[in-house]
Amino acid sequence: MRKFKIAPSILAADFGRLDEEIQFVNDSQADWVHVDVMDGRFVPNISFGQMLVKQMSKVATNPLDVHLMIVEPEKYVESFVEAGASVISFHLEATNHAHRLIQQLKDLGVQAGIALNPQTPVDLLDDLLEDLDLVVLMSVNPGFGGQKFIYRTLHKIKALKSKIIERNLDTLIEIDGGVGLHNAQQLIECGADVLVAGSAVFKSDDPALTVERMKSIEVGNFEL
Ligand code: DX5
Ligand code: ZN
Repeated sequence: MRKFKIAPSILAADFGRLDEEIQFVNDSQADWVHVDVMDGRFVPNISFGQMLVKQMSKVATNPLDVHLMIVEPEKYVESFVEAGASVISFHLEATNHAHRLIQQLKDLGVQAGIALNPQTPVDLLDDLLEDLDLVVLMSVNPGFGGQKFIYRTLHKIKALKSKIIERNLDTLIEIDGGVGLHNAQQLIECGADVLVAGSAVFKSDDPALTVERMKSIEVGNFEL
């Protein structure tokens, strides 16, 4: 059976109880903690920075999957590694030097990911794919939690998965935005490896049960 990861997005958590919310993720069947960093420039919203990430890393037992929605990400990656990030994704649309930044992330000893906005074609990764641990396909316009899933993303997942399989790579595909129990199975069947879920987990009546249900979805091996 195909393995996949669940990454609850802390953006939808209660920041007044941050330690408890991270502890909940520790105790759940989730695999990563998804951490959304927004600068009010790349996206029209501001979330938090390195200090809060550091606090999360003190409590988290799962890897922190940091999604940088910021301009000039090359200026800040080192400080996010120091704050405790294990996986760092930056937006292709936010830098002219993606290849260099991927190498920088590898030199810093973290997993390197690139995120693509909904309008950005996966073909733009053709000359980068071999170097990437992760591709984050945005299935909403980045900036806010709780938005509706953009169904066109399904085609992008399939196209990207075909490239990854053809080249025999182990690059993971993460889907971010509007993910929940209603579409999780379909996403995994299209080729997703990591599902980010913010509102679907933290705003549900029973967050632990929601993670458990997502984790127990049964899907066969992916075939082209
Ligand atoms: C959107 C963020 C997402 C967000 C997902 O800009 O990158 O990670 O937290 O939230 P939901 O799951 O509520 O769509
Ligand atoms: Zn995100």
